[in-house]
Amino acid sequence: MKDTQKNGRSKPAMSGGRRLAWGAGIGVLLFAIGYGLNAKGWLSFSLGSSDQATTQIGTAAYSREAMEADRKVQSKDKKAVAAGVPVGADGYFVPPPESSIPDTPYGEAIRRGQTIFMETSTTVSDHVGNTLACVNCHLDGGRREHSAPMWGAYVSYPAYRAKTKAISTLEDRIIGCFTFSMNAQASSSGIAPPAGSDVYRDLMTYMYWMSDGAPTGQKLPGAGFPKVKKTELGYDLVRGKEVYTNNCVLCHAVDGQGQKDAESDVVFPPLWGANSYNWGAGMARIDTAAGFIKANMPLGKPFSLSDQDAWDVAAYINSHERPKDARQKGTVEEARVEFHDGEESYYGKDVNGVIVGGGCGEVSP
Ligand code: HEC
Ligand code: HEC
Repeated sequence: MKDTQKNGRSKPAMSGGRRLAWGAGIGVLLFAIGYGLNAKGWLSFSLGSSDQATTQIGTAAYSREAMEADRKVQSKDKKAVAAGVPVGADGYFVPPPESSIPDTPYGEAIRRGQTIFMETSTTVSDHVGNTLACVNCHLDGGRREHSAPMWGAYVSYPAYRAKTKAISTLEDRIIGCFTFSMNAQASSSGIAPPAGSDVYRDLMTYMYWMSDGAPTGQKLPGAGFPKVKKTELGYDLVRGKEVYTNNCVLCHAVDGQGQKDAESDVVFPPLWGANSYNWGAGMARIDTAAGFIKANMPLGKPFSLSDQDAWDVAAYINSHERPKDARQKGTVEEARVEFHDGEESYYGKDVNGVIVGGGCGEVSP
């Protein structure tokens, strides 16, 4: 049976043997007396849906307050049932509220990380070559489910990645987003912050704080970006342009460049061109963008587009020229073969008679 956790009532990865031991001991008493109702719930979802990709963390909400209370009990009584994973009524992990960031040196690092996350191109300007911020793709300060939330990421690394054919640490992943999503090659330094930089220290402190209570070793519901099933019609740029006109132009503009306010702060981020993510970014892949868009766009209307519309509009935005793939050394065709073969992307392909992938020339963020 797959490891399951009940909201706060059983240890995340309790083995059968441990369960028996608990059954024989005082645990079962606690279960029976204190958590009778929940025990029933636990049974029903340990037995169900064993072949799902994500962990079932239950149907009943379990608040952070309840988690803290259970932690307190356990700190006094080692035999008490361990605190569980805080989840909301919607079934997604509940990260701690901003108001709980402590006024300590640790709290200061969390806040610095948060500021970098929200205002990346101004706080780390030497290493950002476009006008994006982490929060543009990891919504709500990295808290939003289905937008690769940081509480889903923090507990998933180190991990093996096919993209790099090596183990990636969390820092490696952030370096990747600087290199491709933030197009560091066009910044004044030309590179992502070097490994070990305080930028990563602060960002990872923010992510660690946000992940308090999240278990390692299992994919939480809402972690990463969702996958959108392939459709019978495939994707099409004419249909995609129509979806774009009807659902996206309002904020991202006809030319895809988004909008700035009177202070030149980006209000709606650019989707293509010199100031957007480069060709090596995950978002430049049509399947990845379709998942992000389906779950998050138009802003405020998650899951409102059909799968077909999400594929078509993802193809449309990713058919436009953008900064070159940071890994490209030789020609576009060589980089296509080396890095883009078999992926859902227009990189190095013919779009209306032009091979795209060559980049946008001089970039001025
Ligand atoms: C243009 C959109 C975009 C921007 C901007 C962006 N990211 Fe990402 N990020 C992605 C995508 C897409 C993925 C998933 C990549 C993949 O699967 O290939 C990702 C993955 C991640 C992951 C791993 C998530 C997981 O669940 O495994 C972390 C951590 C991360 N990004 C951090 C950051 C940070 C920090 C910044 C700012 C410095 C940032 N990202 C900026 C699009 C973006
Ligand atoms: C109501 C305004 C609004 C609409 C409509 C809207 N977006 Fe967005 N979009 C945003 C905002 C704001 C962000 C950045 C989110 C943040 O920082 O919290 C964003 C982010 C994005 C991003 C990631 C960042 C980037 O610049 O690449 C993509 C891709 C995207 N939108 C695509 C779309 C598509 C496709 C549509 C239409 C289906 C759409 N959006 C409709 C406001 C909007």
